[in-house]
Formats: sequence, structure tokens, C-alpha cells
Amino acid sequence: MVETTPLTPLFGAQVTGLDIARGVDPGMMAALRDALDRFSVLVFPDQRIDDAAQIAFSEGFGPLERTRPGAPGAGSAVIILSNIGPSGAITSPTDTQVLNNKANRLWHHDSSFKPVPARASLLSAREIPSAGGDTEFAAMRAAFAALDPAEQVALRGRVAIHDFGWSRARVDAALVSEAERNQHPPVRQALVLEENPHGPALYLGAHARSIEGLDAAQSRLLIERLMAQATQPAFIYAHRWRPHDLVMWDNRAVAHRATAFSTTTERRHMVRTCVAGAAPTLPLH
Ligand code: OGA
Ligand code: MN
Repeated sequence: MVETTPLTPLFGAQVTGLDIARGVDPGMMAALRDALDRFSVLVFPDQRIDDAAQIAFSEGFGPLERTRPGAPGAGSAVIILSNIGPSGAITSPTDTQVLNNKANRLWHHDSSFKPVPARASLLSAREIPSAGGDTEFAAMRAAFAALDPAEQVALRGRVAIHDFGWSRARVDAALVSEAERNQHPPVRQALVLEENPHGPALYLGAHARSIEGLDAAQSRLLIERLMAQATQPAFIYAHRWRPHDLVMWDNRAVAHRATAFSTTTERRHMVRTCVAGAAPTLPLH
């Protein structure tokens, strides 16, 4: 029997009673899909899995995204976030890795810059630092529910432009190549996602460049005000990793960010899979 124990009054649950490496039957899988809709973040402690087991489990939630060219793990279904080199020792990170880490420390929804953004992400902690390197989650459904009803009405149906080239260039101009810019042209996304059976969610994060119908300055003000609202302490769950934790989150219900750790003295090796979205965030015309 799968058991869920809430992590905060608003969202997040620890899930026990399953051994992912041994496989999960369809009945359990259905219960986990419901739990993801309801809790937005699922923490599975002590799951000693390899990449193949992680991929097999992740595929139970839907087809997986392929890792984008230029990222570690490119072309496969896993992306590797690690400071461990091929020799097994801590490597000094490449400039791109340093900057990618910096980018991950901004609140974001994974792949919100894609025409059909990711539904969910699963991150497996293979090695963790003794301090720091927590991952924080913000409850975008609770944040929307807490807005003034008149503002909720005003925001529903609005469209945000998400732009990978723009967001990466904000971190560092050197971070995005011309090829990457061309590969990810700006896309339109709903500002409020209505698809979750437990309530609508704000959808913005670091890739949200502007709001249709507002100029650049007004867009920035609105995006930053809503993100500040959504990332108040009351809406945050900070995950302190234990070795072999697997954490899954609903990108269409939470934003997340990485936090700092001593990258030159502490080992951190994480493996991520990403469940593709089933549909765009806006109705097709
Ligand atoms: C991710 C991510 C944060 C972290 O894997 O998508 O943003 O703490 N990770 O590694
Ligand atoms: Mn991420």
C-alpha cells in the first residue's frame, strides 16, 4: 500500500510503501498520478535506483522529454546535474556549468520555454553535499488562490511570453549560443493554468519575459510582483536532500529553484528525468 504523509499544510507529501527499483504496478501508478495532482511535490525516500529504473518509473507518468543538445546527457532521457567528473573526483566546473547552476537558482518551471512545456520532473539524489544544495518549491496553486478575486479574474486568460534566450542572457550573455536561441524561439503560455483538478495555478518563473498587452516595464512589474507573492515563506517547501531521495514535482503547479553549496569541496550528483506535457498551456486555435 502506498502511503502519503503531507509535508506542509498546503502541498508536498512523502510517499512510502513502494520499491521503485522492483517496479510499480498499474494500480499504484494510478494512485501516484492522483497524488501528484493533489500534492504537487512527492518525496520518495530511500529509493536506490539506477538510470534505467528511473526512466522506467518516470515513463509510468507519460512519455519523457529528451535532454536538449548542449546539456549533460543530451539526446538521452536523463539530464545529469553533477560536479563529479569521469575520474570520480570533483571537477572544476566548466564555465557553462557554473552559469547553468546560477540559472537554476532562479525560480522556474522546467522547460516553460518549449511550445509544450514539461508536465513533471523527477530528480534522484545519488550523492549530496553535507550542507547546502537544498531544492526549494513554491506552491503556485496556493499563490493563485490567495490573490484578490478581482485580480484572479483579471489574470485568467492572459498570455505570457517565455523566452529561453532572454532568460539565459539575463544570467550571463555568454550562456546562450545563437544555435540555442534559434532552437528555442519565444513561446506563448497561459499565465494561469486551469488544468489541475484541484485548482488553477500561476505559471511564470524565470523564462517569463513579458505579458501580452503590457509594455516591457509593466510586464516586469507584474511578473515580479506575482513571483514575490508566490515565493513568500508560507508557500515554500525547502527540500533538504538525503542520499537516495527521489523527488518528483508537477511543473504545472509549482515553481522551483536550486540553492548554493560549496561546489569545489562537496560532491553533488543528481539525475533528472522529465515527463513531457500532454498538451500546450493555451488552447490551440
Ligand atoms: C532541476 C533543477 C535544482 C537542484 O533539476 O530541474 O532545477 O537543486 N534542480 O538541483
Ligand atoms: Mn529545474
